[in-house]
Amino acid sequence: MHPWLADQLKRHFGSNDINAIAPDPRWANFLDEICETYEDDEAQRQTIASQLSERNDLLANELKDRLAAQRMLQREKAEQDALIRKLEDAHNQLLQSEKMASIGQLAAGVAHEINNPIGFVSSNLTSLREYVNDLLRVVTAFEQSIEDPTQKAALQKLIKDVDLEFLREDVVSLMSECQDGIGRVRQIVQDLKDFSHVDHGEWVVSDLHKGLESTLNIVSNEIKYKATVEKHFGKIPEIPCIGSQLNQVFMNLLVNAAHAIKEKGIITISSGAQEGWVWVAVADNGSGIAPENLKRIFDPFFTTKPVGKGTGLGLSLSYGIVQKHGGRIEVTSELGKGTQFTVWLPSEQKQTEHGGVDAKAPAVNMA
Ligand SMILES: Nc1ncnc2c1ncn2[C@@H]1O[C@H](COP(=O)(O)OP(=O)(O)OP(=O)(O)O)[C@@H](O)[C@H]1O
Ligand SMILES: [Mg+2]
Repeated sequence: MHPWLADQLKRHFGSNDINAIAPDPRWANFLDEICETYEDDEAQRQTIASQLSERNDLLANELKDRLAAQRMLQREKAEQDALIRKLEDAHNQLLQSEKMASIGQLAAGVAHEINNPIGFVSSNLTSLREYVNDLLRVVTAFEQSIEDPTQKAALQKLIKDVDLEFLREDVVSLMSECQDGIGRVRQIVQDLKDFSHVDHGEWVVSDLHKGLESTLNIVSNEIKYKATVEKHFGKIPEIPCIGSQLNQVFMNLLVNAAHAIKEKGIITISSGAQEGWVWVAVADNGSGIAPENLKRIFDPFFTTKPVGKGTGLGLSLSYGIVQKHGGRIEVTSELGKGTQFTVWLPSEQKQTEHGGVDAKAPAVNMA
């Protein structure tokens, strides 16, 4: 008999002896059936309990696995974050060194640009020194002729000898040439300053045309023997940007355009604004880019230039800079006809947590 039934009988009838409680044998059968039901029920419960405990163990193991996976993911994320920071640092260093390299490359040209005005200012100063000596001699002779009128003839001779008439005119023109030369040097120095550290790498609302002008002046030595520059500047709003980095982009595009021209060509710089976007296009009528190369020009280290002439980093870095500004670069090119690069930049910036921006350039082709 099932112990539960035995207990119940004892509680209700004071004994579990079935013959004593109910002499009718049908009771015994009935109680046997109840007994079987209890036993079945208990067996079922035990199966469920053991299944539940198995499940429990399984869940506990799964939880353990998940916790371990979560810990691994967290570790991996921390490693990835560190890697991203390292990559950002490396990219910034690359940008910096590319900037230094381009400045170094342009330094020779700039030195030449400075050397010219300094050369004629210095030669003018030599002439002016002689003129001042002559003028002082005339002044002395003049003073002497006031005190002693017999000296007048000597004064007249001296005036003729030093060619006072010519001297009067030349002093003025030499002085204005000197002023012009010094002005040019000052402009070059200003352009260099504007080009390289207007903003110390910070976001500032700036006029892109100003950046383009100072960049053009900086690269003028690289361009002027190859191409005439035509400017078609439109009306554009000032935009928040890292000016020194965008100048680097314009410099790369301008230098590339000049390199693509064999002898004498035209580089056209145009700009405009459209639906919350500002664009700047640099076009040349140089060699053009072969279709199979067009896909690769933004790849780091892709260059078709001879060793020592190009590193193949200009466009890849420019791409990164424009992307960081939430913009994009479009290119259209025809072999033998020329190339146009168009830089699209959003006129407003929404900063993201990575210091970049959220924006999408419109699907407009400037070809
Ligand atoms: N305006 C252009 N006309 C023709 N080809 C161009 C023009 N701009 C870029 N390219 C092609 O794209 C390649 C990659 O340009 P990128 O500026 O990245 O490197 P690079 O000019 O070769 O070297 P550097 O690192 O000195 O800029 C060039 O080597 C050239 O083949
Ligand atoms: Mg280049």
